[in-house]
Amino acid sequence: MCETGNQLAELVSKVEKHLGRIAKGNDTDGREYTSLSEMWATVGILEPSVALKAGATRKRVAELVNGAADETASVPAWYTQAYSYWEAEGNCPPTIDGVLGGFGHVSGTDIAGSRRFLEGRVKPLLPAMRLEKAADCGAGIGRVTKLLLLPIFASVDLLEPSPRLLAAAPSFMFGQEGHRAARMEAEVLLSEGGEEEKLREQAVVGMRGREEPYGKAEDADPRAGSLPTRQQQGMKAPPEARVRYLCLGMQDFQPASGVVYDVVWIQWCIGHLHDLDLVRFLVRIKAALRPETGAVIVKDNCCDASADFVVDTGDSSLTRSPAYLKALFEIAGYDLRVEERQQGFPAELFPVIMFCFTAKKEASQSGEGWGP
Ligand SMILES: C[S@@+](CC[C@H](N)C(=O)[O-])C[C@H]1O[C@@H](n2cnc3c(N)ncnc32)[C@H](O)[C@@H]1O
Repeated sequence: MCETGNQLAELVSKVEKHLGRIAKGNDTDGREYTSLSEMWATVGILEPSVALKAGATRKRVAELVNGAADETASVPAWYTQAYSYWEAEGNCPPTIDGVLGGFGHVSGTDIAGSRRFLEGRVKPLLPAMRLEKAADCGAGIGRVTKLLLLPIFASVDLLEPSPRLLAAAPSFMFGQEGHRAARMEAEVLLSEGGEEEKLREQAVVGMRGREEPYGKAEDADPRAGSLPTRQQQGMKAPPEARVRYLCLGMQDFQPASGVVYDVVWIQWCIGHLHDLDLVRFLVRIKAALRPETGAVIVKDNCCDASADFVVDTGDSSLTRSPAYLKALFEIAGYDLRVEERQQGFPAELFPVIMFCFTAKKEASQSGEGWGP
């Protein structure tokens, strides 16, 4: 853990340099943190001695030494606790409501907002973007794959560390639950008005389980920036033959050699990785992005101005501020291309922001030094 600890401490000080201040935050048990190193030490990722050198208070370090985590463990408790949380059926039934923590009713609005972001904000910036392969990271039961990615991309790699949720994905996506979800999404599209006819067509398609994405090819939307339909791209394979299942956490994911992603979608799971694993993961997937047009899209809760981070001690995850998240992408060698807040979510939720990042062009800023 020492090597990791030193690198994480170095990374944390870089992040705080980007932020222009020592990051402060709190957790869901009401504990306050005076720096990132103090927080990473408290959750057992940084050794207390390294945290002390990196500026954690003596009082907190003394507490940590007393309740020291097992530093010889090959997988930090941060990950094993998250794994146990998501593996437990009581915490997360294999349904939309389960993976969205009781907020299943926002799924339709979420998917409609994501599609608009891809079509209206990302596509105009990357007009040559290809629609061949996407990755859905921390996919749960495949909600995003089913409702957003499969209708657009020829194939999807679905990455999910919980074997239980992964096992539920095929029937969710291609069985009864998937149909119900598609209907909910279709209802949102209809309730939002717009091109009534086209939306109605999408709704019907959704209820059929999207055998035909976005209506017939001859109805293709002529507006600039809209994505071609799967039919327009000439893809014939049924949806269930276009998904590959990978039972892995992002921290362990190494794209197979030769695989090229047009979009890597990371939704409501990025906070499960500690900073060093996140930067390393971003460096690895950058090498698998399609040159020039590949993009990483993050859609997640973000802290408001009152904190730089909030730790959820229940599922071992971290909600970062937009500036903190952007600093990590910058360090990993990415440019932020566009960001947008999701509209229409309940006020009690954290703000949810969509970010589109692409690989930096300059070799000198390519995130080297944070490998694997
Ligand atoms: C809130 S759910 C979101 C699921 C899905 N992205 C969606 O929007 O429907 C969080 C998911 O992240 C997964 N997860 C937890 N730790 C992870 C890790 N280290 N890497 C990737 N995914 C992780 C969980 O198993 C769970 O499926």
